[in-house]
Amino acid sequence: MKDIFDNVQFGDLKLNSRIVRTGTWETETSEGGFLTPDIYDRYEKIASSGTGLIVSEMFALDHKDRFYPYSTNMNYRGFIKDYQMVTDIAHKYDVPIFGQLAFFYYDDGENQKVEANDIAQEGIRKLQAEVIMAAKKFSFAGFDGIQINMGNNFYLSRFMNPYFNQRDDKYGGNTENRVRISAEIIKVIKKTMDIHVSCRINPWDARKDGMTADESIAIAKELEKAGADSIQLTARTISQIYDKGEKHPFLVYVEKLIDAVDIPVVLGGSLRDMKTINDVLNSSTVEYISMSKPFVAQADFLADWKANGEGVSVCQSCNNCYSKKTSTCFKF
Ligand SMILES: Cc1cc2nc3c(=O)[nH]c(=O)nc-3n(C[C@H](O)[C@H](O)[C@H](O)COP(=O)(O)O)c2cc1C
Repeated sequence: MKDIFDNVQFGDLKLNSRIVRTGTWETETSEGGFLTPDIYDRYEKIASSGTGLIVSEMFALDHKDRFYPYSTNMNYRGFIKDYQMVTDIAHKYDVPIFGQLAFFYYDDGENQKVEANDIAQEGIRKLQAEVIMAAKKFSFAGFDGIQINMGNNFYLSRFMNPYFNQRDDKYGGNTENRVRISAEIIKVIKKTMDIHVSCRINPWDARKDGMTADESIAIAKELEKAGADSIQLTARTISQIYDKGEKHPFLVYVEKLIDAVDIPVVLGGSLRDMKTINDVLNSSTVEYISMSKPFVAQADFLADWKANGEGVSVCQSCNNCYSKKTSTCFKF
């Protein structure tokens, strides 16, 4: 029987539970970008209560990015010092922590919002160098890994998606070519740094001629081939992915994905109680589960679940924490 509080191996990392606190922006940085005391307190609660792995809030490459007002530009003075304190908190409780990089737009020097079809090879090299430097900074700040968000509609997800990418050079066309920009980044990071590389990807894209579930699995295999250490699936902020009857397609998809790759795969979205999570774990090949909003509602809720052997998050999935962009629970 699997249980959420099992000690498990996650690629090269040991986790104290199967629960991943997934990327959640803080919107609590002060005027100059520095972290406020509340953030350290939140990380202390998350790390000390039974979380297996923490993914940080998203960091943007650039202050002009779409989600920049709610997240942290990693180019502020003090980034390494501030986040060394955050990673120290996680490590005090033997909890690995990844820095998440998520950028929506890319400025190639010619165009602030250059799209996949229009970026020249020089621009691609500049982008790749910036992502590699971000990984370097994360490692200087003590993060155990980088999670590159290649899901939702973030820049690299658009590169991978045939709906957006119609290039006719080696960065467009078949799956290998559309993944190449990311694969080349991963290869350099793995060759030059001792950090875990996690890729957050979409299970599919509902747009006509967008990415199918089979294509998503082919993408995951390309990322693994390049050296990615784990895959985490995106989940919409409101998603009813677990129905009460037959297995939902998301679970059918994830089992196919788990079968297709030899690296850990993290599933998440809308999971709120220990019984359902343990049921998912024990009725499928899923090994790791991510949660976001339950941690916004109560950062240390896992301590109660662990003590009682059961529990339900107080999060009511109202989604105000997301839609109001404050990362604050309006109910609790
Ligand atoms: C307040 C808030 C902030 C979020 N910030 C991020 C983020 O920085 N990076 C990211 O990849 N996803 C972010 N998400 C999406 C979550 O990681 C997660 O995929 C989604 O909330 C569904 O999971 P849940 O039902 O457990 O909350 C955010 C969600 C919320 C509610």
